[in-house]
Amino acid sequence: MARPDPCADAPAPRNPLTQLTLEELRQRTSVKWRMHPPDVLPLWVAEMDVPLAPPVADALRRAVDLGDTGYPHGTAYAEALGDFAARRWGWHDFRVDHTTVVPDVMMGIVEVLRLVTDPGDAVVVCSPVYPPFYAFVTHADRQVIEAPLGPDRRMDPAALDEAFAQARARGRRPAFLLCNPHNPTGVVHRRDELGTVAELADRHGVRVISDEIHAPLVLPGAHFTPYLTVAGAENAFALTSASKAWNLAGLKAALAVAGPRAAADLRRMPEEVSHGPSHLGVVAHTAAFRAGGPWLDLLLDGLDGNRTLLATLLAQHLPSVAHHRPEGTYLAWLDCTGLGVATQRPTDAGVVSDVAGPARMFLDRARVALSSGHVFGTGGEGFVRLNFATSPAILTEAVTRMGEAVRAYRSGG
Ligand SMILES: Cc1ncc(COP(=O)(O)O)c(C=O)c1O
Repeated sequence: MARPDPCADAPAPRNPLTQLTLEELRQRTSVKWRMHPPDVLPLWVAEMDVPLAPPVADALRRAVDLGDTGYPHGTAYAEALGDFAARRWGWHDFRVDHTTVVPDVMMGIVEVLRLVTDPGDAVVVCSPVYPPFYAFVTHADRQVIEAPLGPDRRMDPAALDEAFAQARARGRRPAFLLCNPHNPTGVVHRRDELGTVAELADRHGVRVISDEIHAPLVLPGAHFTPYLTVAGAENAFALTSASKAWNLAGLKAALAVAGPRAAADLRRMPEEVSHGPSHLGVVAHTAAFRAGGPWLDLLLDGLDGNRTLLATLLAQHLPSVAHHRPEGTYLAWLDCTGLGVATQRPTDAGVVSDVAGPARMFLDRARVALSSGHVFGTGGEGFVRLNFATSPAILTEAVTRMGEAVRAYRSGG
């Protein structure tokens, strides 16, 4: 006799990307939903159209019910990340005592830069890359040097070698800000590629700071390698949080992690930096890493489905837009140079709008908001970044509208 299926009455696992209607999403007050008028479909900033993962919502509810809204304390966040990193990535020598809580990933990067570089020193980035890499580094009085990605969208060792040499010549204490996985291309760096980075950094005396905020968002077919597990990366740092994978940007709290030969540097981090993260942020990020794995798996399935859907939609509606399947993140980097849309030149005052070229055309004509490629640095002009962490219905509507807009643009309409 067949045994009864113990899961028969369990609710079917649900794709977090199909839980909210457009009407519900439009009630949100975050920047994604309030920057543009209500007829615009927002597929730009890296927020996801998902409800909170239940373990995160429960932890926050418990804190609110208890009035547990004071200052953060303890190492629960780092312990939860360490357990998650061991389970997911096989990072078994993660050291909680080599971590510190920082307000968010970008502030953490700046604070680590303050530990290992001096004002005026050079910071290498692989362009095109997340625009705040330029803004925050410059605001911290460091100079950005670009090592552009290769034509295969992966890090180019020759470009890195040259940029590291230039950085070393210019500053006494250069750094490399690695985006692992890479925003906006969705490339997940392989262990051998990261090994090359470590070798080059060691040869040129460059300290590596690895931004790993997208690490849990690696899609089927790729595998995430924590930079600090790479041979030769012992004097590097990693910055991470649950902010991207569980949509917690509004609940600030991140972790800086030092390799064994960087731990003494991290101990010099001023105590006041740990005053930035909020207790509710720490509660939420801890719950995500501790108990948010099953929800993350449902999300990754949904993102994988959207990745395939996007490729189909682009082939159907925008065949002249070139696109490569991202290996991780929920960001697609679309090469619109074949559309023939004029790129915007600086005005006499040297100003280029944040939304220019193809992104401007799609916003004005399709009422779809995308991130404009030119703000991602060299190699970004003529591209747009599309955030596909939304429902298949919204994604379909957006790309359909984009296709119609291009046809109208080309026919002079
Ligand atoms: C690569 C990367 N780093 C950092 C951030 C921002 O993180 P935080 O809000 O913790 O500073 C983002 C946000 O999209 C990102 O994509």
